[in-house]
Amino acid sequence: MCFDFSEKIRTVSNFPHEGIQFIDITTLLKDGNAFHMAIDSLAKVFQDKDIDIVVGPEARGFAVGAPVAYALGAGFVPVRKPGKLPAETLRLEYSLEYGKDVLEIHKDAIEPGNKVLIVDDLLATGGTTLATVKMVEILGGKVVGLAFLIELEFLHGRQVLPGYDITSLVKYS
Ligand code: PRP
Repeated sequence: MCFDFSEKIRTVSNFPHEGIQFIDITTLLKDGNAFHMAIDSLAKVFQDKDIDIVVGPEARGFAVGAPVAYALGAGFVPVRKPGKLPAETLRLEYSLEYGKDVLEIHKDAIEPGNKVLIVDDLLATGGTTLATVKMVEILGGKVVGLAFLIELEFLHGRQVLPGYDITSLVKYS
């Protein structure tokens, strides 16, 4: 049976700014059954890929990425906003629609040759994921797949991530 995860996701109008439709996953996360099935559905896609490390970007990527790592028996590595990680970091600046943002990862978080799955709650423009892919690859990791609860297809995130194996549970077109 195919579970309709979209029923568990809430859209909030005008958050955080006027005119933005915010996709809120807290309603899915608080439902134990839906959360369990969502994590298992993502993990199942990559269960035979010998994933060493799941990388999740702050903050909602932690809530989805860490349990996927646990389900796969893989390690979890956080990608964080600047100034949060205590040891030596690799820092990557990337462009947003308006302005720039920065993400960081510990330099020793990925071993060369590690098979890496990047997990986040949402694929929108793909900027966050592309920056994360670049950092993993700079550290010598092999990006085996990209997994999301939600994909906003109308923002064409896949176009900035050509050639990567992308999975999403709920698509908004
Ligand atoms: C959101 C979301 C993804 C990213 C997707 O994170 O959790 O990480 O945006 O957008 P993109 O594909 O256009 O890059 P946000 O930066 O809002 O941080 P948060 O998880 O801390 O709320």
